[in-house]
Amino acid sequence: MNKVDIDKLNKQLSAATAEEVLEYFLQEYGDKITFASSLGAEDQVMTHMIAAIDKTANIFMLDTGRMFPETYDVLARTNKRYDINIKVYFPDSEQVEEMVNERGINLFYKSVENRKLCCHIRKTEPLKRALADKEAWFTGLRREQAVTRNNFHTVEWDDQHNILKVNPLIGWSHEDIWNYIKTYRIPYNKLHDKGFPSIGCQPCTRAVMPGEDIRAGRWWWENPETKECGLHKSNSIRNE
Ligand code: ADX
Ligand code: SF4
Repeated sequence: MNKVDIDKLNKQLSAATAEEVLEYFLQEYGDKITFASSLGAEDQVMTHMIAAIDKTANIFMLDTGRMFPETYDVLARTNKRYDINIKVYFPDSEQVEEMVNERGINLFYKSVENRKLCCHIRKTEPLKRALADKEAWFTGLRREQAVTRNNFHTVEWDDQHNILKVNPLIGWSHEDIWNYIKTYRIPYNKLHDKGFPSIGCQPCTRAVMPGEDIRAGRWWWENPETKECGLHKSNSIRNE
């Protein structure tokens, strides 16, 4: 697919709801599309919508080995509530062993280079495997989340994986997400009630103060411009 086709698709879908975008791509791509869920608030909205369309649609999470217990809890509750089976991908154990034994268990605090290596081994490489036989993937990205995401669209070409990337909630606000979760009583990560608007790995995520930026608790020791783990490269900022 070239840039012209993608612009056309974005125009065609500009008035579509998130459900309509999901339906369109699930129908077009079937087993060749998958949804990456971190089990965060946005992703729970996506899972709720996807399960209503097709319970057998592909959904997966990347378990880095450093997740919060609350994240495993919401994984189990979500599978039960929707009667689905979210597939779990783990990092390569040899690579993790080598990294940890050479650089320490909490290497990521020591340098941006170490942090990127850890994200690469624990997230980026398993993501590659999850997308290997796919032609498209869904994410729960929202434009409002970060400076690195300002220029994202509903449909993008993902040149890291050479497949289509679809972001049905790209224009949703934080409030839209929470209104939807409350309306449909969607299961969500308990940490969201304890000051965690954005949840990643346990050692790299902390609570934020009221009024603070929603990603202020992610990799809080780094600059906002470097705060992407390699799953989502922005068009304007390359960080690896
Ligand atoms: S991150 O890049 O900073 O970690 P963020 O937590 O904002 O990403 O999530 C953005 C989107 O990336 C999610 O909506 C989801 O599609 C995908 N994602 C992030 N973390 C994971 C994960 N552990 N497993 C699967 N998908 C993920
Ligand atoms: Fe490693 Fe932290 Fe990245 Fe998780 S977020 S993969 S613990 S550096």
